[in-house]
Amino acid sequence: MININYRPRRNRKSAAIRNMVEENTVSVNNLILPLFLIEGKNKYSEVSSMPGIFRLSADLMLKEIEECLSLGITTFDIFPAISDDLKNRTATESLNKKGLYLSAIREIIKELPEAVIMTDVAMDPYSSDGHDGLVKDGEILNDETLEILAKMAIAQAEAGADIIGPSDMMDGRVGYIRQALDKNGFSNVSIMSYTAKYASAFYGPFRDALDSAPKFGDKKTYQMNPANTREALIEAALDVEEGADFLMVKPALSYLDVIKSLRDNFDLPIAAYNVSGEYAMVKAAAAKGWIDGDRVRDEILLSIKRAGASIILTYFAKEFAVAKK
Ligand code: PBG
Repeated sequence: MININYRPRRNRKSAAIRNMVEENTVSVNNLILPLFLIEGKNKYSEVSSMPGIFRLSADLMLKEIEECLSLGITTFDIFPAISDDLKNRTATESLNKKGLYLSAIREIIKELPEAVIMTDVAMDPYSSDGHDGLVKDGEILNDETLEILAKMAIAQAEAGADIIGPSDMMDGRVGYIRQALDKNGFSNVSIMSYTAKYASAFYGPFRDALDSAPKFGDKKTYQMNPANTREALIEAALDVEEGADFLMVKPALSYLDVIKSLRDNFDLPIAAYNVSGEYAMVKAAAAKGWIDGDRVRDEILLSIKRAGASIILTYFAKEFAVAKK
């Protein structure tokens, strides 16, 4: 017997002890499920690059949310797929109270008041340019975009949204939206800011799902450079000052250091968006039998939690909840 004073393996010797010393756990309470909304009745179509994820018409989305509520998922982030003929430069369809998005949100909240509904504020689903901001001569305008975003946020709050998610990365948007909400009597509506949203190739399947890819160029003049973390601290400080309720990092998996850095430097709850491409990679490798998809899913969610995110937006939410039932 070699004299080893401290043997860390003692704390791994049985499942009971391993569980006792476990430092992090993912609970269904931590998860937000993103959902894709389409026109019609009783309509669904699978996103080909996201097996198991369906675009749903409002009636089917209601059923889906009801089922997820019974599994313990409380919060849903809804994204609309707008038909091309309704898209224009200024994203006016985003304000249409009778349009797909706002009417579905009203209906869902009326039928299922216990569901927490998060909405997306950005121009890209409604923009004929496919950009998150107003385009002029090939440039994405900041301040002109803020006015559109504020109107969009008010319209979503009027429809009953609990949490507004500005996902566009324009400067000053959190403060501008906060003031607009407060002025219109929505001081209780929360803002989950996409604080550090990177110009990432991991959004590919999402853009397929909504047909929302930019019509020209890329999003690098507003989304962040994947090489930067200190810049994320600047964005976070601004969001705190401007009145954000949650700080989000997106994508999650290649940015665990950014999550950790925000966790260490700020006291607001940190959220992370485990994005479409991250989901797609797991599903593709699992379908080929190259990895155990269920175990990889759990390990990924745990790693995001361990890095410091208390909230995870993930397409895995429902299957995770089913697996934990
Ligand atoms: C756009 C938006 C994107 C996502 C959420 N909101 C994509 C983009 O910036 O092009 C991506 C989500 C995902 O990939 O799961 N406002």
